[in-house]
Amino acid sequence: MRSRTRTAVAAAGMALALLASGCGADDGDGGAGSKKVEVFTWWADGGEKAGLDGLVAQFKTDCAQYEFVNGAVAGGAGSNAKQVLASRLQQSDPPDTFQAHAGAELSDYIKAGQIEDLSAQYKEWGLDSAFPKGLVDSLTVDGKIYSVPANIHRANVLWGNKSVLSKAGITAPATTLPEFFTQLDTLKAKGVATPLALGKDWTQQMLFEAVLISKLGPEKFSGLWTGQTDWAGADITDAINDYKKLLSYSNKDRDTFDWTDAEKLVMEGKAAYQLMGDWEAADLDAKGFKDYNYSVFPGNGDAYQWLADSFVLPKNAKNPEGTKCWLKTLGSAAGQKAFNTKKGSIPARTDANATDYPAYQQAAIADWAKGKPVPSCPHGSACSQGWQGAVASAQGKFSSDGDVAALQSALVAAAKQYAGK
Ligand code: GAL
Repeated sequence: MRSRTRTAVAAAGMALALLASGCGADDGDGGAGSKKVEVFTWWADGGEKAGLDGLVAQFKTDCAQYEFVNGAVAGGAGSNAKQVLASRLQQSDPPDTFQAHAGAELSDYIKAGQIEDLSAQYKEWGLDSAFPKGLVDSLTVDGKIYSVPANIHRANVLWGNKSVLSKAGITAPATTLPEFFTQLDTLKAKGVATPLALGKDWTQQMLFEAVLISKLGPEKFSGLWTGQTDWAGADITDAINDYKKLLSYSNKDRDTFDWTDAEKLVMEGKAAYQLMGDWEAADLDAKGFKDYNYSVFPGNGDAYQWLADSFVLPKNAKNPEGTKCWLKTLGSAAGQKAFNTKKGSIPARTDANATDYPAYQQAAIADWAKGKPVPSCPHGSACSQGWQGAVASAQGKFSSDGDVAALQSALVAAAKQYAGK
């Protein structure tokens, strides 16, 4: 687990060094007639890399005149990549395309004038009717559509080690938070070192949001991001207290862990559960680990906490035609299948055939069709990057001091500063 964390840091360091030397991955071959298409993501390892590889294979077929250049910067949820990208955009040295989450996070780039309108391409490629309307709305500002979605992920999934759970006599998923606490106590009493594996900042945000969904229900939870729900309410205090209790079942070194480090505790049987998005399905599969089960986070019912990876055409991209070929491929039925069968997500297109997908995604496709969509802040569908950062730092502080009132007032202040911006 150490080496993976180190790889991430090394990759980010290397990317920063390249930046400082003015030597981007595409350097030396930019300009008109360039064949290289630098694709910037944080999909550097495991199931995430497998998904990217699937898409690249399709790109090689559909866009044989171009050459894929991997600009990935390792680190879950873009924890390193987003900083590198921000500096590159500031210096007018964008990659040919980059990964941006649908919703408020994408709007950051639109408002900053950093990406191009793709409405004409939507018409040309017949994408207008390919995606659900709600999703296209989250890619649209002032009637212009700015990006092509690759997928829909679900964030509020609880992954379990089957053997660890059955040895503790746990055979069915908890459906409420009180039931979950009872299970965690049982696991502790049976000597499981870490009943609930956890990682750093953004993974803690995910766990807290799952608790908020259970406490508030889908509508009130969604209202937290639109100004409709008050962050100062007693129900939020209650949720913070439950979240604090959950932290007591987690690994003490959580603040140094990426999501894959926490996942490793589950794979090794040192932990029973982990709350994580459904990229974990792909990652466990890519690592050959089969002894796992999954269920919606206890108390979340049919809330489907969604996020969507989408790709953009940056202003001043060196190879806009190559980028368009990438975007056309990932928006196509074949591209979405090549990517999502490996990535753990479901296709954003509505014309996909569920039977093409592994069992997890088949279940997710059915849940998405009947579930209640709620957004995610750490994965951009609910809030801007500024808001994400403010919540992450408040939760990081809470992870060490456990001060409930301080966390709540930081969350109130963040909402005041960022809601509607
Ligand atoms: C999310 C992203 C997913 C997955 C995850 C963990 O932000 O949308 O595709 O990469 O981070 O790294």
